[in-house]
Amino acid sequence: NGYLIAAAVIGYLSGSVPYGLLLTRAAGLGDIRSIGSGNIGATNVLRTGNKKVAAATLLLDALKGAVPVLSLAALWGRDAGLVAGIAALLGHVFPVWLGFKGGKGVATGAGVLLAASWWIGILCALIWFGMAKLTRISSASALTACACAPVIALLAGDWRLAGFLLVVVAIIIWRHQDNIRRLLAGTEPRIGQGK
Ligand code: G3P
Repeated sequence: NGYLIAAAVIGYLSGSVPYGLLLTRAAGLGDIRSIGSGNIGATNVLRTGNKKVAAATLLLDALKGAVPVLSLAALWGRDAGLVAGIAALLGHVFPVWLGFKGGKGVATGAGVLLAASWWIGILCALIWFGMAKLTRISSASALTACACAPVIALLAGDWRLAGFLLVVVAIIIWRHQDNIRRLLAGTEPRIGQGK
């Protein structure tokens, strides 16, 4: 049990580092929270027009989820890895450093998923890319990929992973309330443009 608490703390601290905010600031692009959707994630960083900083944000936000899952699962077993994964996601969504106002969890959730099950992670990434090609809307692509993840785990017969993914996905979908409202109103911007 001590291990699980330690895994939660380590996961949270890793997830709480707001790379999108730090990188845009370091690149002299201003405060990402006052640009576009105001989100600190890669999709919004792309709205600054700097593709490299957006790609770096995506990569680091995914790694900060994947690394604690992989390393703590190897060290303390699968459950410690999964606890670290949820904690990393919560760290990204509720970072203590930003008054608990963080991101929406797509990149970090993707890193956690890839680390928990690489093949389901790749399948969901392909679903994201397929939807992105079709719609050019980041949130719609993420929401579709999210909805598929626990279903795929269930079809694979991995109940424990499915339950874990249900929690991950619920957090991400709940963070997309504004996006869902804009999607329904037909006002959600396409990738790389507008708010
Ligand atoms: O990764 C978050 C994405 O799904 C939506 O981001 O900035 O368009 O709200 P944004």
